[in-house]
Amino acid sequence: MPFSVEVNENLRGILSQPYAFDVVDSNKKKAIEKFGSDFIIDFGIGDPTDPTPEIVRERCKAAVDERKSSGYPASVGHAQFKEAVSSYLKSRFNVSVSENEVVSTYGAKYACFHIPLYFLTPNKGQTALIPNPGYPPYSEGTLLAGGKPHYLNILEENNFEPDFASLEAKTVKDSKILFLNSPHSPTGRVYGREKLKEAVDFCADNNILLVSDECYSELYFDQPPKSILEIKGSEECSIVLNSLSKRSMMTGYAVGFAASKNPGLLKPFESMTRKSVQGIASFIQDAAVTAWNDFGHTEKMRAVYKKRLEALLPGLEQIGCKPIKPQGTFFMWAHVPDGFSPISFSEKLLLEYGINCVPGNLISREFNKVNPGDGFARFALVAPLEKTEEAVKRLREWK
Ligand SMILES: Cc1ncc(COP(=O)(O)O)c(C=O)c1O
Repeated sequence: MPFSVEVNENLRGILSQPYAFDVVDSNKKKAIEKFGSDFIIDFGIGDPTDPTPEIVRERCKAAVDERKSSGYPASVGHAQFKEAVSSYLKSRFNVSVSENEVVSTYGAKYACFHIPLYFLTPNKGQTALIPNPGYPPYSEGTLLAGGKPHYLNILEENNFEPDFASLEAKTVKDSKILFLNSPHSPTGRVYGREKLKEAVDFCADNNILLVSDECYSELYFDQPPKSILEIKGSEECSIVLNSLSKRSMMTGYAVGFAASKNPGLLKPFESMTRKSVQGIASFIQDAAVTAWNDFGHTEKMRAVYKKRLEALLPGLEQIGCKPIKPQGTFFMWAHVPDGFSPISFSEKLLLEYGINCVPGNLISREFNKVNPGDGFARFALVAPLEKTEEAVKRLREWK
Protein backbone atom coordinates (compact mmCIF):
# COMPACT_ATOMS: atom_id res chain seq x y z
CA MET A 1 0.00 0.00 0.00
CA PRO A 2 1.47 3.41 -0.89
CA PHE A 3 1.98 5.75 2.07
CA SER A 4 -0.85 8.16 2.42
CA VAL A 5 -1.97 10.74 4.97
CA GLU A 6 -5.03 12.86 4.82
CA VAL A 7 -5.15 16.48 5.85
CA ASN A 8 -7.80 17.63 8.28
CA GLU A 9 -10.94 17.70 6.15
CA ASN A 10 -11.69 21.26 7.25
CA LEU A 11 -8.39 22.28 5.71
CA ARG A 12 -9.26 21.14 2.20
CA GLY A 13 -11.43 24.14 1.40
CA ILE A 14 -8.63 26.47 2.43
CA LEU A 15 -5.86 24.68 0.55
CA SER A 16 -7.87 24.60 -2.66
CA GLN A 17 -8.42 28.37 -2.69
CA PRO A 18 -6.21 30.24 -5.18
CA TYR A 19 -3.75 32.74 -3.72
CA ALA A 20 -5.11 36.19 -4.55
CA PHE A 21 -1.72 37.65 -5.32
CA ASP A 22 -0.63 34.95 -7.84
CA VAL A 23 -1.90 37.02 -10.79
CA VAL A 24 -0.39 40.22 -9.38
CA ASP A 25 2.95 38.53 -8.70
CA SER A 26 3.19 36.98 -12.14
CA ASN A 27 2.39 40.31 -13.85
CA LYS A 28 4.91 42.02 -11.60
CA LYS A 29 7.57 39.56 -12.73
CA LYS A 30 6.78 40.38 -16.37
CA ALA A 31 6.93 44.12 -15.65
CA ILE A 32 10.30 43.73 -13.90
CA GLU A 33 11.65 41.83 -16.93
CA LYS A 34 10.43 44.63 -19.20
CA PHE A 35 11.39 47.72 -17.16
CA GLY A 36 13.80 46.57 -14.41
CA SER A 37 12.73 46.57 -10.76
CA ASP A 38 13.70 50.20 -10.07
CA PHE A 39 11.10 51.43 -12.52
CA ILE A 40 8.17 49.74 -10.76
CA ILE A 41 6.09 51.94 -8.47
CA ASP A 42 4.36 49.63 -6.09
CA PHE A 43 0.93 50.34 -4.60
CA GLY A 44 0.33 46.58 -4.27
CA ILE A 45 0.90 44.84 -0.94
CA GLY A 46 -0.23 46.67 2.21
CA ASP A 47 3.11 46.50 3.95
CA PRO A 48 4.62 49.81 5.12
CA THR A 49 7.94 50.58 3.45
CA ASP A 50 8.75 53.42 5.87
CA PRO A 51 11.23 52.64 8.65
CA THR A 52 10.16 51.56 12.12
CA PRO A 53 10.57 54.66 14.36
CA GLU A 54 14.12 55.12 15.58
CA ILE A 55 13.12 55.20 19.28
CA VAL A 56 11.53 51.78 18.84
CA ARG A 57 14.55 50.30 17.07
CA GLU A 58 16.90 51.75 19.69
CA ARG A 59 14.79 50.31 22.51
CA CYS A 60 14.81 46.90 20.83
CA LYS A 61 18.61 46.90 20.44
CA ALA A 62 19.16 47.95 24.06
CA ALA A 63 16.66 45.37 25.31
CA VAL A 64 18.58 42.53 23.64
CA ASP A 65 21.67 43.47 25.67
CA GLU A 66 19.78 44.13 28.89
CA ARG A 67 18.29 40.66 28.72
CA LYS A 68 21.60 38.83 28.74
CA SER A 69 20.11 35.42 29.37
CA SER A 70 17.14 35.09 27.15
CA GLY A 71 14.65 32.89 29.02
CA TYR A 72 11.20 32.11 27.69
CA PRO A 73 9.08 35.23 27.25
CA ALA A 74 5.84 35.78 29.17
CA SER A 75 3.61 34.02 26.64
CA VAL A 76 0.61 36.31 26.96
CA GLY A 77 2.54 39.52 27.56
CA HIS A 78 4.86 40.77 30.29
CA ALA A 79 3.58 43.25 32.88
CA GLN A 80 5.08 46.35 31.23
CA PHE A 81 3.64 45.35 27.85
CA LYS A 82 0.13 44.98 29.28
CA GLU A 83 0.52 48.22 31.21
CA ALA A 84 1.54 50.05 28.03
CA VAL A 85 -1.49 48.66 26.14
CA SER A 86 -3.78 49.67 28.98
CA SER A 87 -2.31 53.17 29.02
CA TYR A 88 -2.52 53.43 25.20
CA LEU A 89 -6.22 52.51 25.32
CA LYS A 90 -6.82 55.11 28.02
CA SER A 91 -4.95 57.89 26.18
CA ARG A 92 -6.33 57.13 22.76
CA PHE A 93 -9.95 56.09 23.46
CA ASN A 94 -10.45 57.13 27.08
CA VAL A 95 -11.42 53.58 28.06
CA SER A 96 -10.25 51.77 31.18
CA VAL A 97 -8.92 48.32 30.41
CA SER A 98 -6.91 46.64 33.14
CA GLU A 99 -3.79 44.60 32.51
CA ASN A 100 -5.77 41.39 33.24
CA GLU A 101 -7.98 42.25 30.31
CA VAL A 102 -5.10 42.23 27.79
CA VAL A 103 -3.28 39.37 26.05
CA SER A 104 -0.31 39.90 23.72
CA THR A 105 -0.57 38.37 20.25
CA TYR A 106 1.64 37.85 17.20
CA GLY A 107 -0.27 40.70 15.58
CA ALA A 108 -3.92 40.81 14.65
CA LYS A 109 -3.57 38.02 12.07
CA TYR A 110 -2.74 35.40 14.69
CA ALA A 111 -5.71 36.41 16.80
CA CYS A 112 -8.33 36.58 14.07
CA PHE A 113 -7.26 33.23 12.66
CA HIS A 114 -7.35 31.45 16.04
CA ILE A 115 -10.46 32.93 17.64
CA PRO A 116 -12.90 30.78 15.59
CA LEU A 117 -11.05 27.65 16.77
CA TYR A 118 -11.96 28.48 20.34
CA PHE A 119 -15.52 29.68 19.84
CA LEU A 120 -16.99 27.49 17.11
CA THR A 121 -17.97 23.84 17.50
CA PRO A 122 -16.89 21.95 14.37
CA ASN A 123 -19.23 20.86 11.61
CA LYS A 124 -22.51 21.97 13.20
CA GLY A 125 -23.23 24.81 10.78
CA GLN A 126 -22.00 27.39 13.28
CA THR A 127 -21.42 30.54 11.34
CA ALA A 128 -19.04 33.49 11.35
CA LEU A 129 -20.20 36.72 9.73
CA ILE A 130 -17.32 38.07 7.68
CA PRO A 131 -16.94 41.32 5.72
CA ASN A 132 -16.42 40.81 1.98
CA PRO A 133 -13.91 42.10 0.95
CA GLY A 134 -12.23 41.29 4.21
CA TYR A 135 -8.99 39.99 5.64
CA PRO A 136 -8.64 36.31 4.53
CA PRO A 137 -7.73 34.80 7.95
CA TYR A 138 -11.28 35.58 9.20
CA SER A 139 -12.64 32.95 6.83
CA GLU A 140 -9.59 30.66 6.88
CA GLY A 141 -9.74 30.37 10.68
CA THR A 142 -13.48 29.78 10.47
CA LEU A 143 -13.06 27.00 7.91
CA LEU A 144 -10.29 25.29 9.88
CA ALA A 145 -12.54 25.41 12.94
CA GLY A 146 -15.22 23.56 10.96
CA GLY A 147 -17.42 26.66 10.93
CA LYS A 148 -19.33 28.25 8.08
CA PRO A 149 -18.37 31.68 6.73
CA HIS A 150 -21.30 33.89 5.82
CA TYR A 151 -20.11 36.94 3.93
CA LEU A 152 -21.40 40.45 4.44
CA ASN A 153 -20.95 42.12 1.09
CA ILE A 154 -19.48 45.59 1.59
CA LEU A 155 -21.19 47.66 -1.07
CA GLU A 156 -21.12 51.29 -2.10
CA GLU A 157 -24.95 51.40 -2.03
CA ASN A 158 -24.69 50.64 1.72
CA ASN A 159 -22.07 53.32 2.21
CA PHE A 160 -19.47 50.50 2.44
CA GLU A 161 -20.96 49.31 5.74
CA PRO A 162 -22.06 45.76 6.60
CA ASP A 163 -25.82 45.34 6.50
CA PHE A 164 -27.04 43.31 9.48
CA ALA A 165 -30.72 44.08 8.96
CA SER A 166 -30.95 42.07 5.73
CA LEU A 167 -29.65 38.83 7.30
CA GLU A 168 -32.11 35.98 7.39
CA ALA A 169 -33.30 34.84 10.82
CA LYS A 170 -31.72 31.37 10.34
CA THR A 171 -28.32 32.90 9.52
CA VAL A 172 -28.50 35.12 12.60
CA LYS A 173 -29.47 32.13 14.75
CA ASP A 174 -26.49 30.09 13.47
CA SER A 175 -24.05 32.99 13.85
CA LYS A 176 -21.57 32.78 16.70
CA ILE A 177 -18.97 35.34 15.60
CA LEU A 178 -19.06 38.67 13.80
CA PHE A 179 -15.81 40.07 12.43
CA LEU A 180 -15.93 43.84 12.24
CA ASN A 181 -13.09 45.84 10.75
CA SER A 182 -13.06 49.62 11.11
CA PRO A 183 -11.24 51.38 9.55
CA HIS A 184 -12.13 48.85 6.88
CA SER A 185 -9.55 47.41 4.55
CA PRO A 186 -9.70 47.92 1.59
CA THR A 187 -12.53 50.47 1.31
CA GLY A 188 -11.07 52.91 3.86
CA ARG A 189 -14.49 53.36 5.46
CA VAL A 190 -14.56 54.25 9.17
CA TYR A 191 -17.73 53.31 11.06
CA GLY A 192 -19.25 56.01 13.21
CA ARG A 193 -20.66 55.60 16.71
CA GLU A 194 -24.10 54.74 15.36
CA LYS A 195 -22.88 51.85 13.19
CA LEU A 196 -20.69 50.52 15.99
CA LYS A 197 -23.62 50.68 18.40
CA GLU A 198 -25.77 48.82 15.87
CA ALA A 199 -23.10 46.08 15.68
CA VAL A 200 -22.85 45.84 19.47
CA ASP A 201 -26.64 45.64 19.92
CA PHE A 202 -26.93 43.08 17.12
CA CYS A 203 -24.27 40.88 18.76
CA ALA A 204 -25.54 41.35 22.32
CA ASP A 205 -29.14 40.54 21.32
CA ASN A 206 -28.15 37.42 19.39
CA ASN A 207 -25.33 35.97 21.53
CA ILE A 208 -22.70 36.64 18.90
CA LEU A 209 -19.06 37.28 19.77
CA LEU A 210 -18.00 40.58 18.22
CA VAL A 211 -14.36 40.49 17.11
CA SER A 212 -13.38 44.07 16.37
CA ASP A 213 -10.24 44.21 14.24
CA GLU A 214 -8.94 47.75 14.81
CA CYS A 215 -5.45 47.33 13.38
CA TYR A 216 -5.82 50.50 11.26
CA SER A 217 -7.18 52.64 14.12
CA GLU A 218 -4.26 55.11 13.99
CA LEU A 219 -4.31 55.52 10.22
CA TYR A 220 -6.95 58.13 9.50
CA PHE A 221 -7.29 61.25 7.41
CA ASP A 222 -9.66 63.38 9.46
CA GLN A 223 -11.60 62.14 12.50
CA PRO A 224 -9.88 59.57 14.75
CA PRO A 225 -11.77 56.27 14.49
CA LYS A 226 -13.57 55.02 17.58
CA SER A 227 -12.86 51.73 19.27
CA ILE A 228 -15.69 49.32 19.94
CA LEU A 229 -14.58 49.60 23.58
CA GLU A 230 -16.08 53.10 23.63
CA ILE A 231 -19.54 51.73 22.88
CA LYS A 232 -21.84 50.88 25.76
CA GLY A 233 -22.68 47.17 25.81
CA SER A 234 -19.43 46.11 24.13
CA GLU A 235 -17.99 45.10 27.52
CA GLU A 236 -19.99 41.91 27.47
CA CYS A 237 -19.83 40.80 23.85
CA SER A 238 -16.57 41.94 22.28
CA ILE A 239 -12.89 41.20 21.86
CA VAL A 240 -10.76 43.98 20.40
CA LEU A 241 -7.68 43.29 18.28
CA ASN A 242 -5.03 45.85 17.52
CA SER A 243 -1.39 45.74 16.51
CA LEU A 244 1.74 47.77 15.89
CA SER A 245 2.15 46.53 12.31
CA LYS A 246 0.51 49.47 10.62
CA ARG A 247 0.44 51.93 13.53
CA SER A 248 4.20 51.90 13.99
CA MET A 249 5.52 50.32 10.77
CA MET A 250 6.32 47.14 12.74
CA THR A 251 5.00 44.36 10.49
CA GLY A 252 8.33 42.56 10.91
CA TYR A 253 7.99 42.57 14.70
CA ALA A 254 4.57 40.87 14.59
CA VAL A 255 3.20 42.19 17.85
CA GLY A 256 -0.27 43.22 18.94
CA PHE A 257 -2.92 42.51 21.53
CA ALA A 258 -6.38 41.16 22.18
CA ALA A 259 -8.43 42.89 24.87
CA SER A 260 -11.81 42.18 26.38
CA LYS A 261 -13.72 43.30 29.45
CA ASN A 262 -15.47 39.90 29.52
CA PRO A 263 -13.22 37.23 31.10
CA GLY A 264 -15.42 34.50 29.59
CA LEU A 265 -14.31 35.71 26.16
CA LEU A 266 -10.68 36.49 26.91
CA LYS A 267 -9.82 33.44 29.04
CA PRO A 268 -10.22 30.77 26.34
CA PHE A 269 -8.02 32.83 24.03
CA GLU A 270 -5.50 33.52 26.78
CA SER A 271 -5.40 29.94 27.95
CA MET A 272 -4.96 28.49 24.45
CA THR A 273 -2.29 31.05 23.61
CA ARG A 274 -0.39 29.93 26.74
CA LYS A 275 -0.74 26.32 25.67
CA SER A 276 0.29 26.77 22.07
CA VAL A 277 3.09 29.36 21.88
CA GLN A 278 6.06 30.64 23.86
CA GLY A 279 5.03 34.22 23.20
CA ILE A 280 6.43 37.37 21.64
CA ALA A 281 10.22 37.68 22.18
CA SER A 282 10.78 39.75 25.34
CA PHE A 283 12.95 42.33 23.58
CA ILE A 284 10.18 42.85 21.04
CA GLN A 285 7.68 43.32 23.86
CA ASP A 286 10.09 45.93 25.31
CA ALA A 287 10.23 47.73 21.96
CA ALA A 288 6.45 47.51 21.74
CA VAL A 289 6.12 49.31 25.09
CA THR A 290 8.03 52.26 23.60
CA ALA A 291 5.84 52.19 20.49
CA TRP A 292 2.49 52.06 22.35
CA ASN A 293 3.59 54.98 24.54
CA ASP A 294 4.59 57.21 21.64
CA PHE A 295 1.98 59.12 19.65
CA GLY A 296 4.42 61.47 17.88
CA HIS A 297 5.41 59.02 15.15
CA THR A 298 1.80 58.11 14.41
CA GLU A 299 0.96 61.77 13.88
CA LYS A 300 3.91 62.17 11.51
CA MET A 301 2.92 59.10 9.51
CA ARG A 302 -0.65 60.30 9.15
CA ALA A 303 0.70 63.48 7.58
CA VAL A 304 2.86 61.39 5.23
CA TYR A 305 -0.07 59.20 4.12
CA LYS A 306 -2.23 62.29 3.66
CA LYS A 307 0.33 63.85 1.29
CA ARG A 308 0.54 60.61 -0.73
CA LEU A 309 -3.25 60.39 -0.87
CA GLU A 310 -3.54 63.99 -2.04
CA ALA A 311 -0.93 63.34 -4.73
CA LEU A 312 -2.40 60.07 -6.03
CA LEU A 313 -6.10 60.90 -5.95
CA PRO A 314 -6.13 63.49 -8.79
CA GLY A 315 -3.71 61.30 -10.77
CA LEU A 316 -6.21 58.45 -10.75
CA GLU A 317 -9.10 60.77 -11.54
CA GLN A 318 -7.32 62.06 -14.64
CA ILE A 319 -7.32 58.54 -16.17
CA GLY A 320 -11.02 58.00 -15.47
CA CYS A 321 -10.81 56.15 -12.15
CA LYS A 322 -13.32 57.17 -9.54
CA PRO A 323 -11.44 56.85 -6.26
CA ILE A 324 -13.36 56.54 -3.00
CA LYS A 325 -11.64 58.98 -0.66
CA PRO A 326 -10.65 56.86 2.35
CA GLN A 327 -11.48 57.96 5.90
CA GLY A 328 -8.90 55.56 7.32
CA THR A 329 -6.33 52.80 6.53
CA PHE A 330 -3.59 53.46 3.98
CA PHE A 331 -5.63 52.06 1.10
CA MET A 332 -7.53 53.75 -1.65
CA TRP A 333 -10.41 51.77 -3.19
CA ALA A 334 -11.10 53.10 -6.66
CA HIS A 335 -13.57 52.37 -9.44
CA VAL A 336 -11.54 51.36 -12.47
CA PRO A 337 -12.06 53.46 -15.64
CA ASP A 338 -14.98 52.59 -17.95
CA GLY A 339 -14.21 49.82 -20.40
CA PHE A 340 -11.82 47.97 -18.06
CA SER A 341 -12.16 45.04 -15.72
CA PRO A 342 -10.06 45.24 -12.54
CA ILE A 343 -7.60 42.76 -14.08
CA SER A 344 -7.31 44.40 -17.51
CA PHE A 345 -6.88 47.80 -15.81
CA SER A 346 -4.19 46.61 -13.41
CA GLU A 347 -2.37 44.79 -16.23
CA LYS A 348 -2.28 47.90 -18.41
CA LEU A 349 -1.14 50.03 -15.49
CA LEU A 350 1.65 47.64 -14.64
CA LEU A 351 2.80 46.41 -18.03
CA GLU A 352 2.63 49.78 -19.81
CA TYR A 353 3.33 52.27 -17.02
CA GLY A 354 5.18 50.20 -14.39
CA ILE A 355 2.58 51.00 -11.70
CA ASN A 356 1.33 48.16 -9.52
CA CYS A 357 -2.07 47.91 -7.81
CA VAL A 358 -4.36 45.04 -6.80
CA PRO A 359 -7.51 44.11 -8.78
CA GLY A 360 -10.44 44.40 -6.37
CA ASN A 361 -12.18 41.21 -7.49
CA LEU A 362 -9.13 39.15 -6.48
CA ILE A 363 -9.30 40.26 -2.84
CA SER A 364 -13.04 39.84 -2.67
CA ARG A 365 -15.24 36.85 -3.40
CA GLU A 366 -18.52 36.19 -5.08
CA PHE A 367 -21.28 35.81 -2.51
CA ASN A 368 -25.03 35.93 -3.22
CA LYS A 369 -24.11 36.30 -6.90
CA VAL A 370 -22.19 39.52 -6.26
CA ASN A 371 -18.45 40.12 -6.06
CA PRO A 372 -18.19 43.50 -4.30
CA GLY A 373 -14.64 43.91 -5.64
CA ASP A 374 -15.83 43.84 -9.26
CA GLY A 375 -15.08 47.16 -10.88
CA PHE A 376 -12.56 48.21 -8.22
CA ALA A 377 -8.80 48.32 -7.74
CA ARG A 378 -6.89 48.81 -4.50
CA PHE A 379 -3.96 51.17 -4.14
CA ALA A 380 -1.82 50.95 -0.97
CA LEU A 381 -0.26 54.32 -0.14
CA VAL A 382 3.07 52.74 0.72
CA ALA A 383 5.18 54.19 -2.11
CA PRO A 384 7.19 57.28 -1.06
CA LEU A 385 5.80 60.68 -2.08
CA GLU A 386 8.38 61.21 -4.88
CA LYS A 387 7.47 57.83 -6.37
CA THR A 388 3.76 58.59 -6.01
CA GLU A 389 4.30 61.91 -7.83
CA GLU A 390 6.32 60.11 -10.50
CA ALA A 391 3.39 57.69 -10.97
CA VAL A 392 1.00 60.61 -11.44
CA LYS A 393 3.40 62.12 -13.99
CA ARG A 394 3.42 58.86 -15.95
CA LEU A 395 -0.39 58.77 -15.86
CA ARG A 396 -0.49 62.11 -17.74
CA GLU A 397 0.57 60.06 -20.77
CA TRP A 398 -2.32 57.57 -20.27
CA LYS A 399 -3.91 56.50 -23.54
C1 LIG B 1 -7.77 44.01 8.25
C2 LIG B 1 -6.46 43.45 8.68
N1 LIG B 1 -6.39 42.80 9.86
C3 LIG B 1 -5.23 42.28 10.29
C4 LIG B 1 -4.08 42.38 9.53
C5 LIG B 1 -2.80 41.78 10.01
O1 LIG B 1 -2.31 42.48 11.04
P1 LIG B 1 -0.99 42.07 11.78
O2 LIG B 1 0.15 42.49 10.95
O3 LIG B 1 -1.12 42.79 13.06
O4 LIG B 1 -1.02 40.58 11.99
C6 LIG B 1 -4.11 43.04 8.31
C7 LIG B 1 -2.89 43.13 7.49
O5 LIG B 1 -2.83 43.50 6.38
C8 LIG B 1 -5.33 43.59 7.88
O6 LIG B 1 -5.42 44.23 6.71
